[in-house]
Amino acid sequence: MAFFMGIDVSTTATKALIIDPDGEVVAVASSEYAYETPRPMWAEQHPYLWWTATVDSIRRVLAESGVDPADIGGIGLTGQMHGLVLLDERGEVLRPAILWNDQRTAAECDEIRARLGKDRLIQITGNDALAGFTAPKILWVRNHEPEIFRRVRHILLPKDYVRYRLTGEFAIDKADGAGTILFDLRKRDWSAEVLNALEIDPEWLPPTFEGPQITGRVTPDAAEETGLRAGTPVVAGGGDQSAQAVGVGAVEPGVVALTLGTSGVVFASTQEPFIEPQGRLHSFCHAVPGRWHLMGVMLSAGGSLRWYRDTVAPVTDFDTLLRPAGEVSPGCEGLLFLPYLTGERTPYPDPLARGAFVGLTVRHTLAHMTRAVLEGVAFGLRDSFELMKESGLTEITQVRASGGGVRSALWRQILADVLGAELVTVNTTEGAAYGAALLAAVGAGVFPDVPSACSAVIRITGRTVPGPAARFYNEMYPLYRKLYPALQPAFQEIARLIA
Ligand code: XUL
Repeated sequence: MAFFMGIDVSTTATKALIIDPDGEVVAVASSEYAYETPRPMWAEQHPYLWWTATVDSIRRVLAESGVDPADIGGIGLTGQMHGLVLLDERGEVLRPAILWNDQRTAAECDEIRARLGKDRLIQITGNDALAGFTAPKILWVRNHEPEIFRRVRHILLPKDYVRYRLTGEFAIDKADGAGTILFDLRKRDWSAEVLNALEIDPEWLPPTFEGPQITGRVTPDAAEETGLRAGTPVVAGGGDQSAQAVGVGAVEPGVVALTLGTSGVVFASTQEPFIEPQGRLHSFCHAVPGRWHLMGVMLSAGGSLRWYRDTVAPVTDFDTLLRPAGEVSPGCEGLLFLPYLTGERTPYPDPLARGAFVGLTVRHTLAHMTRAVLEGVAFGLRDSFELMKESGLTEITQVRASGGGVRSALWRQILADVLGAELVTVNTTEGAAYGAALLAAVGAGVFPDVPSACSAVIRITGRTVPGPAARFYNEMYPLYRKLYPALQPAFQEIARLIA
């Protein structure tokens, strides 16, 4: 019983991986799917896709690893946060899930603020109402699809639908619970006051569990479908960001996980719940029992560089594109880039925000523009660090960087310089699924707690310290900060113009 499985139900694929007793990844399999945008700003996915992909990836990872299913000591679940899954009394799916990146609920966010008061909402849940969160989606279905809403008996998040299919149990972890904004952040459980104000029946919500707690066991039916052993324990796991943080070992206060994928996430573990008074940072429970985290999310981080490459140099690989940018001096001779290519979440929750190059002259070359993209993303991520400091989180001792973007030494150096912090990379690269597998190992008692599990298996593999450019970037940052407020009226006018 020495192997553990992590399953990540993401927006683009479900991935299953198996780790051995030393925390080494034995095999990984993933099964892809798409999501629908039936209208502009909508994002939906059918929960049956997740189950089919889960069955497929479990079967393949078992086959590829050669591990006997009887030796899998536990399974941890993780996945896309904030999605809304609605089931009827027989456990049947009532409509496609509404995903984290769906932006249809601006009116319902206002409704939530009106029902509770924005300050009270932030006091209890730690967060303002954002269109992507779960609670406004529940209100949207009530307001727009009353026939469906009448039949709702269970509310779940994406990975918890997979849990239901695996174990027959309704359950959710504390991190995803907090991401619904129906949670009392301090109590780490559903808030009676919020549910009451929003008129949501508490009976519809599953019981909540800490990340390593066992929530159920694989049923004989699910065992037959997946090839797993019936009775294999399934732990709560965590929303993808908290599981990712576990996967890179960002579990101690002061340690920040910086994930540079399509989006850019700054995730700081805390011993107490910290709240940004205006709700500009997300404040959720960690998958580590009794810990919380603050989080800033930039929507287009690596996504900005990918867009830029695909648009201006589609046949160039990233290394070739980035090499000349290393020759350009910091600050790109006065060229700045705003990375709001898909709107923004932190620090400006504004779906109408847009990207921009500011300060172009005839002296600027492609290399300047490339470097400006790298610097603009770094400045945007610094915004989250600054908000964390303003929220009282002054002790940031280490930044653990992961994701495709940090493969570039140039981008790592720019990040260390702009953030004024040492960046470290670690040996684990499978992110949230790996974190979920570690949570399962803790749940099985292999490690006494999550921090011990992380220190047993996660090692630092590289360090990038701030260099001489850090001082210059520090002077340039206030200029970057001025650009969004200056351009915001223009972004609104553009939206009106093209509507
Ligand atoms: C976190 C968030 C995203 C999704 C995507 O707040 O919205 O990380 O979980 O996977």
